Amino acid sequence: MSNRLGLTALGATLALTLAACGGEGAGGSSSAGDENASAEDMLVGVSMPTQTSERWIADGEAVESQLEALDYQVELAYANDDIPTQAQQIDQMITQGADALIIAAIDGTALSSQLDAAAAAGIPVISYDRLIRDSENVDFYVSFDNFEVGVAQANALLTGLGILDREGEETDVTGPFNVELFAGSLDDNNATFFWEGAMSVLQPYIDNGTLVVKSGQTSIEQAAILRWQQETAQRRMEDLLTSAYNDGSVVDGVLSPYDGLSRGIITALANAGYGTDAKPMPVITGQDAEIASVKLIAEGTQGSTIFKDTRQLAEQAVVAAEAFLEGETPEANDTTTYDNGVKVVPSYLLPVETVFADNIQQTLIDTEYYTQAEVDAGQAD
Ligand code: BGC
Repeated sequence: MSNRLGLTALGATLALTLAACGGEGAGGSSSAGDENASAEDMLVGVSMPTQTSERWIADGEAVESQLEALDYQVELAYANDDIPTQAQQIDQMITQGADALIIAAIDGTALSSQLDAAAAAGIPVISYDRLIRDSENVDFYVSFDNFEVGVAQANALLTGLGILDREGEETDVTGPFNVELFAGSLDDNNATFFWEGAMSVLQPYIDNGTLVVKSGQTSIEQAAILRWQQETAQRRMEDLLTSAYNDGSVVDGVLSPYDGLSRGIITALANAGYGTDAKPMPVITGQDAEIASVKLIAEGTQGSTIFKDTRQLAEQAVVAAEAFLEGETPEANDTTTYDNGVKVVPSYLLPVETVFADNIQQTLIDTEYYTQAEVDAGQAD
């Protein structure tokens, strides 16, 4: 049994403490910060973007179960990657009397009126993994070091190509290698952080000719994939192969910022005959350690992914929500990086780890994120 929900000993201890000192309290938004309100009278609204990606399902379940372990009531909603649906679900949580909101936005700029309503009702808002932009009414941000995710993806690409060794030292391999670049959805603040992190590493190798982007598509606007859609990434890769590799040249590496996109890219490449001894799969990066991609990494089809432990992220969101609900301020470990256009949002950022075929055991199985059987099947229980 894997333990992606992350019910921790810490959570259990906090639950006991809360139960021991819980008094009578009224439900509804007025109870946030009311020290007499008990956890079971409080409702936390959790708004997640989509269930098409396994990572957000794991996030939603982990946040829900950890809040429930502390006796809070939880309203968890997924918005099908549709902005009006997400806005409506959050409106409803506010109407239901939510005492705190945890939101992973589809479009980081599209929720202003919901956030205004939350602020007017005294409901604290925690921005979950994706920073909500252009609003004063974001109280806290929990995420990973998103620039570092991009750096790690670029380093994994260079390592896969043999330009760097596993210690990150340059080898005497100088290419040139043909690479293509993909970015995420531009309405997601993280997409720019991932891109800038990656390009901070790759640009010098492009400038000195070690890496060649044959399509010439080197801007984030050209590389972006709206809503992080796998099919869109597949189509773009097909177009790149047709337009830039119809002269017998091959793609050696692909910077992909998310496992779902990587799988679309792999499908396009496989359909074009890549994945044989004569024409091996390029080195392809990823993110999220989605189980289908971990299997592809184990098999050698995808090169790497970035593991972001959703159990830990959920835990930080829950710790922050609990602090607000007890009338306290959550502890930030970064108060400079995440300017949302109106203010710098106090943040708690977690570190990330790169997964290659040879450390799946240590990073994902030993930590009980997945079992070996799940990796073998490419499917989580
Ligand atoms: C998250 C990534 C995820 C991507 C697509 C980003 O906001 O930080 O972990 O791969 O969205 O869902």
